[in-house]
Amino acid sequence: MKGKSTRELTGSEKTEAVRDERPPVSSAAHLQMGEGPPLEMGPTSEREQSGHPARQIGPYSIIAEIGRGGMGVVYQARDVRLGRYVAMKFLSPQLSHSEEAKARLLAEARAASTLDHAGICTVYDIGESEEGVYIAMAYYEGQALDAILERGPLTSQRQLISDISHEMRSPLARVNATLGVARQRLGQDVVFDRIERDTDRLNEMVGRLLTLARLDMTAASPEMSRIALDALVSEVVADVQFEAEERDCRVEFACEQNCYIEANPALVRSAVEDIIRNAIRYTVSGTAVEVRLECRQGSNGHHAVLRVSDRGPGVPQAELANIFRPFYRVGQARDRKSGGVGLGLAIAERVARVHGGSVQAENRPGGGLEVVLTLAAAKTAMPVQT
Ligand SMILES: Nc1ncnc2c1ncn2[C@@H]1O[C@H](COP(=O)(O)OP(=O)(O)OP(=O)(O)O)[C@@H](O)[C@H]1O
Ligand SMILES: [Mg+2]
Repeated sequence: MKGKSTRELTGSEKTEAVRDERPPVSSAAHLQMGEGPPLEMGPTSEREQSGHPARQIGPYSIIAEIGRGGMGVVYQARDVRLGRYVAMKFLSPQLSHSEEAKARLLAEARAASTLDHAGICTVYDIGESEEGVYIAMAYYEGQALDAILERGPLTSQRQLISDISHEMRSPLARVNATLGVARQRLGQDVVFDRIERDTDRLNEMVGRLLTLARLDMTAASPEMSRIALDALVSEVVADVQFEAEERDCRVEFACEQNCYIEANPALVRSAVEDIIRNAIRYTVSGTAVEVRLECRQGSNGHHAVLRVSDRGPGVPQAELANIFRPFYRVGQARDRKSGGVGLGLAIAERVARVHGGSVQAENRPGGGLEVVLTLAAAKTAMPVQT
């Protein structure tokens, strides 16, 4: 057998594996995890009928690729010892030599194996083969994840995120309170500052996760009122000026007319703030972040269109759509420096959606990113209080 499972096979398991009627794999046949020819994948029955040898990794016969993401490639396989289908996740080819990615994959498997929740896939095994580290997990018959996601959120997973975030709130509050006591008793110390920074960050992250989960799980639209978007954006711009100065850039706001929308002010504010703060974070020192707001008459009625442009590195064309996915961040090095979690734009995208709008990003000619947030405008343009 080629693979080395971290779990030793029992005597009867070994006999079962040998007794499997599939012919053994030739040494030339291997998964495309690094170099090597691509896996030739077809539907299970087709492959079995054609008598093609299944690729064997330890006790697992690889059947077909069933999905691929930023970090890994997932295959349907059959555990020949136990006679059941499994899903096997390998690191994607570009990460297969990264020790850090390998450690993350194993940490993911270990964390999942300690939890028992309907929203988490059961982990059966972890191991290492010539094709790299793998996790063998429960295989669920059904549609592709993309198709399921298109129909709506995975309620149990969202519920899990919401439950975990909620549960984290109280211990975090206790850490903050204890920190206050420690400062009083032991005096100021740089270590306390560091703990405080990290707990603040965790708190913010938990808050964002809760917002994201709520936006995904609640079918009812959030409480809406009539707001002057121009005033709201102007307040956000004033609030971020200090941050902009610290990063040696400026934020310029232009709006030619009043712009009223029917919206949830807290949600819209958080979306606008994240988009502008991203621009401040990435724009090159000495440049301006331009914020422009227009109220437009389109084929579907009035729209408020907010454009936030910077003079930063932009986003590689192929990744533009991905930046609205939760936890997606472009380029490890840049993001470590920026310190973001990768939730801001995912929330902004959902906020736009619950307001009958959308958000898009485009690279600007001459460099930089332009993010366009479109929201449905209120039907009449009467002035109101924000
Ligand atoms: N103006 C921008 N210029 C270049 N890259 C950007 C810009 N805005 C967002 N990105 C990329 O998109 C990713 C996702 O952005 P998002 O706002 O969701 O997360 P974040 O800013 O990293 O973290 P968070 O908003 O949760 O603090 C960023 O990590 C960054 O890689
Ligand atoms: Mg952000």
